[in-house]
Amino acid sequence: AMPWRTPPQARRAGAQPDPYHVWLSEVMLQQTQVATVRSYFLDFIGKWPDVEALALAPDEAVMQAWAGLGYYSRARNLKRCAEAIWFEHGGRFPRTSEQLQELPGIGAYTGAAIAAIAFDEQVAVVDGNVERVITRLNEIDVPLAKAKPRIRELVAGMTPETRPGDFAQAMMDLGATICTPRKPACALCPLRPSCGAARAGSQEAFPVKTAKAAKPVRKGAAFVARDAEGRVLLRRRAPSGLLGGMSEVPTTGWTARIDGATGAAAAPFAGQWASKGAIRHTFTHFHLDLEVWLHEGAAPTPQGGRWIALDDLGNEALPTVMKKAIQSAIPQAFALPARKQPAKKEPDQP
Ligand code: ADE
Ligand code: SF4
Repeated sequence: AMPWRTPPQARRAGAQPDPYHVWLSEVMLQQTQVATVRSYFLDFIGKWPDVEALALAPDEAVMQAWAGLGYYSRARNLKRCAEAIWFEHGGRFPRTSEQLQELPGIGAYTGAAIAAIAFDEQVAVVDGNVERVITRLNEIDVPLAKAKPRIRELVAGMTPETRPGDFAQAMMDLGATICTPRKPACALCPLRPSCGAARAGSQEAFPVKTAKAAKPVRKGAAFVARDAEGRVLLRRRAPSGLLGGMSEVPTTGWTARIDGATGAAAAPFAGQWASKGAIRHTFTHFHLDLEVWLHEGAAPTPQGGRWIALDDLGNEALPTVMKKAIQSAIPQAFALPARKQPAKKEPDQP
């Protein structure tokens, strides 16, 4: 079911997990659910079958293949990591979690996951699912942020010397399918006999959440222009910063000010701009409310602008927020990819 896995029977027959596949799938799995990762993973390994191919691929093509997964710094780091492995490590992945963590975009979670799964390192692999299982098993009643060192210690103590990668994945699978956030299926759980929370009936009290600040709301406007042939005006975002280097329809700045310019007066050229309502997109640290405007018919081409046919929008590195804006103005523009709701926890920092 998961094409990046090497099941135990295949391993007994001598198959070794491909660290490139393990790495790619782990980075993607931090973004979204298994079902969505499947198609992105197969697309990536079809286009770039090994770390050499990815290291030598054009940045733009990688960003484009990533579009829709979100968190574009991860795609940039993915490319930089492939380059580091190809140009600085002779094309071979480092084999320990410590060395892996020195690569771009590989944090404690991903480094441990690759080392355990691909190289049989006996190392604790801790993601949000594992944190839930462990806090329930041990009734850890301090907020998660404070409990992390203890959780890591407990997982390290449980991780076996043989098949540590299968253990890690089994724990993550347990959290994803049985020890779920709501209504865990304890009757089916192999850890049930030793689970403190199940004994006490307090499963859903764990993990104890850290109080977090509400996300601020930023506002702006997005301008969807279609020329006489129905093509859409796009431009490229600045190379660094949020969604750096991705494609966009012209927008205003995204201001925290409630009185920021969100009207047609801020459009890239003057004309008949029709209001197409508003969209909301939630980034890691803020919500963005964009007023969407549509202009149809002959129009000048602003500096840096390109006119792209609807059929070619799929070849653009368009972040989801831009797809939403375009779709709000042009309902038939494209089908949005399935996204995990709410956004998945991020075990590593971007
Ligand atoms: N979540 C992230 N990586 C995973 C893996 N390898 N197995 C199960 N769940 C995961
Ligand atoms: Fe989670 Fe229930 Fe298993 Fe405990 S018994 S680990 S709460 S599924």
